[in-house]
Amino acid sequence: MRTPIMAGNWKMNKTNEEACELASAVKEASGAVTGTEIVLCPPATALSTVVGCVEGSNIEVGAQNMYWEDSGAFTGEISADMIKSTGAQWVILGHSERRGRFGVIEEGFTEELQKVFGDTDASVNTKLKKALAAGLKPIACCGELLSEREAGNTDEVVAGQVKAMFEGLGDCSSAGFVIAYEPVWAIGTGEVCDGDEADRVCGVIRSVVAEVAGEEAAQAIRILYGGSVKPDNVEGLMAKENIDGGLVGGASMKADSFAALIDAAAASA
Ligand code: PGA
Repeated sequence: MRTPIMAGNWKMNKTNEEACELASAVKEASGAVTGTEIVLCPPATALSTVVGCVEGSNIEVGAQNMYWEDSGAFTGEISADMIKSTGAQWVILGHSERRGRFGVIEEGFTEELQKVFGDTDASVNTKLKKALAAGLKPIACCGELLSEREAGNTDEVVAGQVKAMFEGLGDCSSAGFVIAYEPVWAIGTGEVCDGDEADRVCGVIRSVVAEVAGEEAAQAIRILYGGSVKPDNVEGLMAKENIDGGLVGGASMKADSFAALIDAAAASA
């Protein structure tokens, strides 16, 4: 049996003070819940603060991105050791808002361009290797654009992204990480992927893992669904065979709604 995970991605929200307020409220509501792992991913500036605020609870903390070098002239980046030094244990890698998977980029500061930070399949793979070697627990993201879904290419796109994650992982490939399936069109839109379809794509991901890392790894790896997960749709998603939890943006930023998601994940165990 795979232990579920409910992870909150706060994106570029919350000052230190606000982050501590929210983390403390989540701890109060859900800090003693068992049967699911709980992960909060605040902005990097609030990692240490949030680690302190959830101390003594079942809640763990993660970063939203990481660079693969140990140190050097990489202005604005943070390393695996820097993340670990805050007490955080997790890191989200290759979120679509960092891959810039929004289709063709027009000139100027369009909404799309604001979400391009240059992650590619290759850089996600390099970051994944570094995170695993450093002992961080990565949540590696994949997911198709609406145009790719409409063209009937969902499985091909997602399978390609997942295969790229495992490229050259070697001994690390025993599924020591978590995969999040996040259809880009469902993120922050309120438009959740139908449970059966999300389960089907997570099943495709599991079969790709079996192909590249073996059946044992495929059975052990946790696959999360992300994209407009809310208290009113979480139960249906958590009930699915291939969905082992959620990576949640909007609904993770209110303690009561995140508590409902945590309870649903725990109940699905
Ligand atoms: P959402 O975000 O829950 O607000 O759709 C999910 C994510 O981006 O991880």
